[in-house]
Amino acid sequence: KERKAQHLLLDTDLSKCERMISLYDNLNALFEKAINEAYPDVVDPPVVISSSNNPKFGDYQCNSALPLCKLLSMEKTDAKKKVSPLDVAKNILSKVPSSPLIEKLDIAGAGFINIYLKREYGQNTLKNILKLGKVNPPPIYQPKTVLVDFSSPNVAKEMHVGHLRSTIIGESISRLLEFLGHKVLRINHIGDWGTQFGMLIAHLEDKFPNYSTESPPISDLQAFYKESKLRFDSDEEFKKRAYENVVKLQAHEPKIIHGWKLICDVSRKEFQNIYDRLDITLTERGESFYQDRMVAIVKELEEKGFLEEDEGRKIMWGNQKEGTIPLTIVKKDGGFTYDTSDMAAIKQRIFEEQAEWIIYVTDAGQATHFQIIVSCAERARIKLSHHRVDHVGFGVVLGEDKKKFKTRSGDTIKLSELLDEGLKRAEDKLREKERDKHLTEEEFRDAQRAIAYGCIKYADLCNNRAHEYVFSFDKMLQDKGNTAVYLLYARTRIRSIARTANVTQEQLKKAIEDTPISLEHEKEWKLAKVLLKFPDVIARVTKDLSLHTLCDFCYEIATTFTEFYDSCYCVEKNKTGEIVKVNMGRILLTEVTAMVLEQCFSILGLKPVEKM
Ligand code: ARG
Repeated sequence: KERKAQHLLLDTDLSKCERMISLYDNLNALFEKAINEAYPDVVDPPVVISSSNNPKFGDYQCNSALPLCKLLSMEKTDAKKKVSPLDVAKNILSKVPSSPLIEKLDIAGAGFINIYLKREYGQNTLKNILKLGKVNPPPIYQPKTVLVDFSSPNVAKEMHVGHLRSTIIGESISRLLEFLGHKVLRINHIGDWGTQFGMLIAHLEDKFPNYSTESPPISDLQAFYKESKLRFDSDEEFKKRAYENVVKLQAHEPKIIHGWKLICDVSRKEFQNIYDRLDITLTERGESFYQDRMVAIVKELEEKGFLEEDEGRKIMWGNQKEGTIPLTIVKKDGGFTYDTSDMAAIKQRIFEEQAEWIIYVTDAGQATHFQIIVSCAERARIKLSHHRVDHVGFGVVLGEDKKKFKTRSGDTIKLSELLDEGLKRAEDKLREKERDKHLTEEEFRDAQRAIAYGCIKYADLCNNRAHEYVFSFDKMLQDKGNTAVYLLYARTRIRSIARTANVTQEQLKKAIEDTPISLEHEKEWKLAKVLLKFPDVIARVTKDLSLHTLCDFCYEIATTFTEFYDSCYCVEKNKTGEIVKVNMGRILLTEVTAMVLEQCFSILGLKPVEKM
């Protein structure tokens, strides 16, 4: 309903409409109207609109006649009055109001209504994009404050490929929602508080006794973590000191807090390095931020009678007990847990940040955790019905051997090293194609980075996120098929068409004013119709919070563009290679194709390059 109310722009003058309209919603509304008029007695009639995958059956189809006919014949027992789907289709067709979207309608087979779109609508819509100089988002019902909790690695423990997935997916979701006009808070819920700091600080004390005056040169925090864990597991005295440190940390003893900060700083630098390389924006707000709020939420839940004793622990059940588990709000030793911090966090987000929509991006393994958090937050009346919460879960990353992604020696792969390898592989690829001979050093490095980081992001996003995915540089660096490399090349090629035709910016501007986009040729029109799907694709991606649909759309644009370019000359040359004619109407089509593609790239985090 929300979407419908905003998308129906049928009364507006399409030639002035600044936003692309949803074809799906508009066709739906048209046919809903027609069906209601044709069959006023049927309550909630089925309105079935789908895009057609065979040009013989139009661009879209209305397949309501069959289910409607079934409904009608259930009511009519009198055999003589029985209607056929064909009759129903004819009846509906006669009631469809005229629309600037539709060229013609006809009926196929037993009663399918084929819908053919009007070229003029395509021309107007695409022209408006060129005139505006940008691709506007489809309208939203109401901008919301959305909090996206993503990346969220743990201090001193390794930031692994799972966190990389969360980082990539969370960034794209944030970009998508920002594009739509929502206010997005990008929160990095890092694990920066907890008992592991007891042993880390004990180890710090031994290795760098004067750490409070001199900054210790910890270069490899993972090794440092491993060393202290080893001592923790084997040395009783050390273990005791570690526990004492936890108590001191919680009491905010200055020297211990100083050590904690030092360790967090080392991690923070490592994380930031990855974020800078991948162009990720995040606000750090780790678990430590919620210390006081955890005390407060425990008190609140306790007072309201939500906590139950369970073998010394304090637990809380969600709205139902059956088939689930409770949260552990307070441990036996009085300490707090991951559950406690998430209860404090959801309250802070809803009450202080005024978040109306919270999105958690983590591995699918945490789905139950978030379900229970939400359920408990509902029980405690923290989350109300108008708050939306989504857990965006994803599958594990596998190595090419289909086993968990690890180094040969079985260690977790360091993300910085993974990115380095990506750069190296991208460089090899470019040299193999002898691009180093055609590009300046700077162009070469730009292309290298765009390919390396682009392919890592795209390989992650182009799969259904719910599935596990196999990390393979060989696969992601292929220049054929649905890969970042293919798309980056495609976009660079599209952008070079006007340039090689020597079309100046002035000429282009003038053409935008006075030349219609050429949509006569079947392949031109086919390309345009793909571009016109943009608002529906964005709506779908937003609904599912699944970016692979957008990746598929990019690929469809690129391949359809190739079809067009193969059969339609944009520039005609004579035998000596001189340009004799530039088809401006087609140049306009290439420009708008590039714009739509670039808008998708920006959501996916792909950096277009001028030359590659
Ligand atoms: N640090 C956690 C992990 O590494 C992810 C945190 C996700 N966010 C949250 N609010 N629990 O698995």
